[in-house]
Amino acid sequence: MQNSLYELGDIPPIGTVPKQMYASVIRRERYGPPHQAFRNEVVDVPEAGPGQVLVLVMAAGINYNNVWASLGRPVDVISSRLQQGEREDFHIGGSEGSGVVWAVGEGVSQVSVGDAVILSGCRWTESSADIRLGADPMTSASQSVWGYESNFGSFAQFALVDDYQCHPKPPGLTWEEAACFLLTGATAYRQLCGWPPHDVRPGDPVLIWGGAGGLGSMAIQITRARGGIPVAVVSDEERARYCRELGAQGTVNRLHFDHWGRLPDIGDRAAMGRWTEGVRAFGRSFWEALGERRSPRLVLEHSGQDTIPTSMYLCDNAGMVVICGGTTGYNADVDLRFLWMRQKRLQGSHFANLRQCRDIIHMVSTGQLDPCLSWTGGFDDIGKAHQLMHDNQHPQGNQAVLVNAPRAGMTELP
Ligand SMILES: NC(=O)c1ccc[n+]([C@@H]2O[C@H](COP(=O)([O-])OP(=O)(O)OC[C@H]3O[C@@H](n4cnc5c(N)ncnc54)[C@H](OP(=O)(O)O)[C@@H]3O)[C@@H](O)[C@H]2O)c1
Repeated sequence: MQNSLYELGDIPPIGTVPKQMYASVIRRERYGPPHQAFRNEVVDVPEAGPGQVLVLVMAAGINYNNVWASLGRPVDVISSRLQQGEREDFHIGGSEGSGVVWAVGEGVSQVSVGDAVILSGCRWTESSADIRLGADPMTSASQSVWGYESNFGSFAQFALVDDYQCHPKPPGLTWEEAACFLLTGATAYRQLCGWPPHDVRPGDPVLIWGGAGGLGSMAIQITRARGGIPVAVVSDEERARYCRELGAQGTVNRLHFDHWGRLPDIGDRAAMGRWTEGVRAFGRSFWEALGERRSPRLVLEHSGQDTIPTSMYLCDNAGMVVICGGTTGYNADVDLRFLWMRQKRLQGSHFANLRQCRDIIHMVSTGQLDPCLSWTGGFDDIGKAHQLMHDNQHPQGNQAVLVNAPRAGMTELP
């Protein structure tokens, strides 16, 4: 007889969908620090509708977006979905993962029950007017982040995705390796290769904030693979060493400087003088790390308010600062004189389209890119792993948790 609920790691017969599942759930009354927000609960397994796929999750990647989901800001994701007419008053996060296709909805032809897949983290409506007119789906008004803006992400025994989110899992990767790199890797890839003519070219110096983080570890390797010269910013010597091992030409420790945050008022000459001194000293450290007096043609940004003034100042004439996040805040200042007179570009970038996802999976599966899996936890560690990320105390590179995959691969958290 079919069980209505299976224990984690206890796999139902292939294609058999139980009524309920374990999930790591966020509720509005628990919004706050991640260790408080996530709780294991039993919820109903969602049904795969037309074009959708139900995936038995083997492992899930940990990412910063569910730090934001726990906090309930800048977006209260649950209220926002309820306002749009959805019924669930809870959030199951997780915007990447690996697993096995367990059921398919009407019209799904690209994947079949039993396929091993990696899940990418964005959805859109393929029939929307902008996509039909040729827009990159990532720029479509219908686009949203799965496991953040939309529900039933990878922090559960079963995840619900659209069929195009399923990518063949390279057989050489473990479940946890396959689960950990696509969100950061494909985001960094689009930032560095998706905005021509500002794609990384041989010999280009590239400044990478948070070089030892998820995006940063991928960005260092992508830059090298394209012939660029990555210089990474870090906050301690262990992270600096990690970045150099990944291919960084050199590193800059941001804790040696204190000019961070919003720009002083242009009329406040004393404060502006102090800021200019700080940013020039940072620039000299960049040259030292690079080994020559050249400015970065590209700056990979995600730290936001604290660092944008420095990124814009340092970026080479006709270069680009490309940003995908604002960890330190969203109200960043740009001195427009440098933007227009030195003809720089400030470009927003968000995750990646399917072509870019496939490119990065190919780079990992052929060994050009290490997935940088630094830690593998169990299902009960999801809150703790996000808490460490929130506190900037998490391990380097990317992290994953095992959901239904065998426990053998687990490692200790700091
Ligand atoms: N739009 C998208 O598609 C997308 C995709 C992925 C990530 N993101 C966003 O990008 C951000 C980073 O993600 P991630 O996965 O790389 O996170 P991560 O693994 O936590 O890495 C971020 C790094 O930023 C550095 N950092 C922390 N505070 C900083 C500060 N005040 N100034 C400069 N650097 C600081 C830290 O390194 P040090 O302390 O060593 O400097 C940390 O390792 C998050 O806000 C995330 O939401 C957006």
